[in-house]
Amino acid sequence: MDVSYSQFLRLTQRRASVRNFQAADVPRAAVEQAIAAAAQAPSACNRQPLRYIAVADNATKLKLARLPMGTAGYAEGIPLMLAVVGDLSAYPFERDRHIIYIDASLANMQFMLALETLGLASCSINWPDMEQRERKAAALLMLKPYERIVMLMAVGYPDPAGLVPHSEKKSVEEMLTWM
Ligand SMILES: Cc1cc2nc3c(=O)[nH]c(=O)nc-3n(C[C@H](O)[C@H](O)[C@H](O)COP(=O)(O)O)c2cc1C
Repeated sequence: MDVSYSQFLRLTQRRASVRNFQAADVPRAAVEQAIAAAAQAPSACNRQPLRYIAVADNATKLKLARLPMGTAGYAEGIPLMLAVVGDLSAYPFERDRHIIYIDASLANMQFMLALETLGLASCSINWPDMEQRERKAAALLMLKPYERIVMLMAVGYPDPAGLVPHSEKKSVEEMLTWM
């Protein structure tokens, strides 16, 4: 393996949620590279029940960015909005309806780390389970009836002058129970 553990650890330590971006556009080629990494993620039965919708168009992007409640104060400065969309038709049994959220989350982490290697930054954005907003987003993004937004993501080149909150992480001892 030509990626050492310490290199990989440094990559994970470097990623942080960024909410202040440069005005520069995000190249489609970079998003495609990050998606190539996301596509390698495991998924239940390898069904890969997700896709990414990248919204660069200004008017649509702003409408989408204002729909979740977690973008107050920075929605207007997001260069690219991504909707991570799960496909419920991949898992027909009700008991498996949570799997799109697991599969998409595994892919998203790979997506975000790949962005870091390309000099891009991201911020995950919670998608609230609220009927009216679901309907608005479905119309805006032309979702199929069996598709659900798992989360949104802001993507862009970080503003070097912008502040990034430090988020303290749990220690290994707090994270691990070994029985
Ligand atoms: C599922 C999820 C939802 C999140 N929702 C929001 C959000 O709505 N708005 C926001 O500014 N940050 C959001 N975040 C970013 C978190 O606040 C951030 O990941 C956390 O504070 C840890 O900081 P770090 O990402 O820099 O390690 C979300 C993160 C996750 C994983």
